[in-house]
Amino acid sequence: MEHFYRTIQGWFDWEQVYSAFVEMAPADRSSVFVELGAWKGRSAAFLATEIANSSKDIKFYVVDGWDGRGHVNPDGTPEYFGYDLDIKAGLFETFTKNLSPVADHYTPLRMDTAEAAAKFEDGSVDMVWIDTTQDYDMVLADIQAWLPKIKSGGWIAGHDYTSAPQSVGAAVHATFGNNFKIHAGCWLHCVNGDNNSIDTALKNVLPFSQAVGPDQSNAYLRSKYAALGAPAPDAPTPDRPEYLRGKYAVKF
Ligand SMILES: C[S@@+](CC[C@H](N)C(=O)[O-])C[C@H]1O[C@@H](n2cnc3c(N)ncnc32)[C@H](O)[C@@H]1O
Repeated sequence: MEHFYRTIQGWFDWEQVYSAFVEMAPADRSSVFVELGAWKGRSAAFLATEIANSSKDIKFYVVDGWDGRGHVNPDGTPEYFGYDLDIKAGLFETFTKNLSPVADHYTPLRMDTAEAAAKFEDGSVDMVWIDTTQDYDMVLADIQAWLPKIKSGGWIAGHDYTSAPQSVGAAVHATFGNNFKIHAGCWLHCVNGDNNSIDTALKNVLPFSQAVGPDQSNAYLRSKYAALGAPAPDAPTPDRPEYLRGKYAVKF
C-alpha cells in the first residue's frame, strides 16, 4: 500500500530506521514492535504501512495517553504542546481516523507508558521506540521500564538524541554509557548485541550518505555532548521529499 504518513501533522524523520527494523524482522516467526509517543500518528502510520507491505507477522503496539501532554512538569501538571490545542479533547479520535487505512496493523494502548510496560512479559519485545518527552527523568523512566521487556538481540531506541542533549542525550548516556549508535538524530541500542548490526539493513533501505548529506549539526549541541563525554550527535535527516517520494511512493 502507498504511504500516507505525510498527510498527518507530527514530528517524524527516521523513515529509514523504521524500515530497517522491518527489514530485520524474521519472516518465519512473529515479532513485537512498540512505539511510545504517537501524537496524531505520523510515525505510527509510516511503520504500520511498512509492516503491512512486508507481509511479516509483526505485532505493532502504539502507546500514548492521547491527552495532548508534551511532558509533565515537576509539580505533576501536564505541559501541553503549544499548538493544536483545539484538538486536545479529540486527539485519540484524530489518531484513530488518521490510521484507519492501517487499522488492521496496529493495536493502540491508551495509557501511560509505564503502565503499558507492565503489560508485556520480560524478554518479549523486539523493538521499542521512545518518542515521548524531552524530560530527563521521564526518558530515564521509560528506558528503565522497557529495557527488561526487550529480547536479547532486540532494540531500544528513540528520537531526539541530537536535539535534546540535556534530557534525552543525558538519559541515554547515563544508561548505556557510549554503547549505542546514533543515526538520523536518533539513538539506537541493541540489547546484548552489536549496535552496528543494523547497518546492513539501513544500507538496504536508504544509504545514510544519501539521506543526510553534509553534517549540519549545531556547534552548541556538539559542545553539550562533549561536556557529557557522550558521542557527538549526527545531523538530523533533512526533509528530502524527492528522495522519499521515489523510495516510499509517498502521496503529497
Ligand atoms: C513528540 S509526540 C510524538 C510524535 C509522533 N511520534 C509523531 O510521529 O508525530 C509525544 C507524544 O508522547 C505522548 N506522551 C508523553 N509522555 C507520555 C507518557 N508518559 N505516557 C504516554 N504518552 C506520553 C504525548 O501524549 C504525545 O502525543
